[in-house]
Amino acid sequence: MPRNAAQWNRTPPLPPTHYVDPLVYTSEEILAQERDKIFARAWSIACHESEVPERYDYRTYRHPAGKNLVVVRGDDGTIRTFFNVCPHRGNTILYNPAGNAKHLLCIFHAFAFDCRGNCVAIPREKAGYQERIGKGDFGLRAVRTEVGFGGFVFVNLDDRAPALETFIGEALDGMRASLEAEPLEVFTFHRAIVRTNYKLWHDTNSEFYHDYMHYHNRQTSMAAPGYFERRYTAFPNGHAQVGDQVVNYEAYEGFKSRDLSFPGMALNQWKMVDLFPGMTYNLRGSSLRIDTLCPISPLETAIEFRGLGLKCDTPAERAARVHDYNTIWGPFGRNLHEDLLGVLGQGRALERGQTYLVHGREEDSTIHDEVGMRHFYAEWSRWMGRSSSDPSADGASGVNGAAHREAALS
Ligand SMILES: [Fe+2]
Repeated sequence: MPRNAAQWNRTPPLPPTHYVDPLVYTSEEILAQERDKIFARAWSIACHESEVPERYDYRTYRHPAGKNLVVVRGDDGTIRTFFNVCPHRGNTILYNPAGNAKHLLCIFHAFAFDCRGNCVAIPREKAGYQERIGKGDFGLRAVRTEVGFGGFVFVNLDDRAPALETFIGEALDGMRASLEAEPLEVFTFHRAIVRTNYKLWHDTNSEFYHDYMHYHNRQTSMAAPGYFERRYTAFPNGHAQVGDQVVNYEAYEGFKSRDLSFPGMALNQWKMVDLFPGMTYNLRGSSLRIDTLCPISPLETAIEFRGLGLKCDTPAERAARVHDYNTIWGPFGRNLHEDLLGVLGQGRALERGQTYLVHGREEDSTIHDEVGMRHFYAEWSRWMGRSSSDPSADGASGVNGAAHREAALS
């Protein structure tokens, strides 16, 4: 039966853990808090070590807390991360997404920094500053950096945050042997700017009920043995693993079984882990896809995709991995663009007003259970200190109060 306005705006007849208020996707004030309370404290993947393979290589990174960073491999081979900001007059130091530079040189007043973050040159230093301030006071802001879980460069803006191993816990144990048997290498990178909230991308990676949208998945996964027995495993800190599956690629016309896989994996095996607050490891046997998120505004998100194989790949092996990646996740692939359309549609609907978003399916934590999203929003609520089902600051509850609360919050 269709519902009138009051019915449309009523909370669903489910526990508050099983739905989300649309305000958490549309509020500028909530995004500002997410940057401070979540992204500024959580570990984020800045890039992969293979993107800075040589001494003095650098890679710039827009951190989801809103900071511009640069990852640099030093003269000692160590990978470090700094704010991409000159401490003199607050200018941007590096503009290119990647490069090689023995000194990081600010174009504004030619302050120079080495690859360990030391300020090594200030033009006419003594003439202007005498002994009052000098190179020793103008070091770059170092950001905690740990390389791991397949050679990814994780960074954390919070000097007091738990170590990366503690943050990840056991979430990646199911694929760690495959990730760490051989050094990995990025073979493709692209960034999509999508008019949707960043959490909705993480959601679509952590729920498989929407496999009905993917014709390819319906043929190769849903129809394959064991699909409905796949189970979610929830880990501390909001991470979740989706149960493994062997995919029947032969069931899709024009596709065939993979010729190779990652170490320790059966051919055509698929493993997937979603890390809080916005990273996904998606290992479809022969190639690894890593998603990272950066909110631009509540309904605008930059999603970065990296495809990886083994550094030791022969040219033929690499070509096979690239082919397998592209046929699923490339621009003419059979999966990724459909997911992008899914979250774009959610973004459009949210722009125009929406009711509660429901993730209330309970199927004993199997593949169409929405427990992955519930686990994420429970963690989100914990970090934010407000409920995802009723995030209002003033106690007003329900979608009915959303416009009022939005005004009150802004
Ligand atoms: Fe999907």
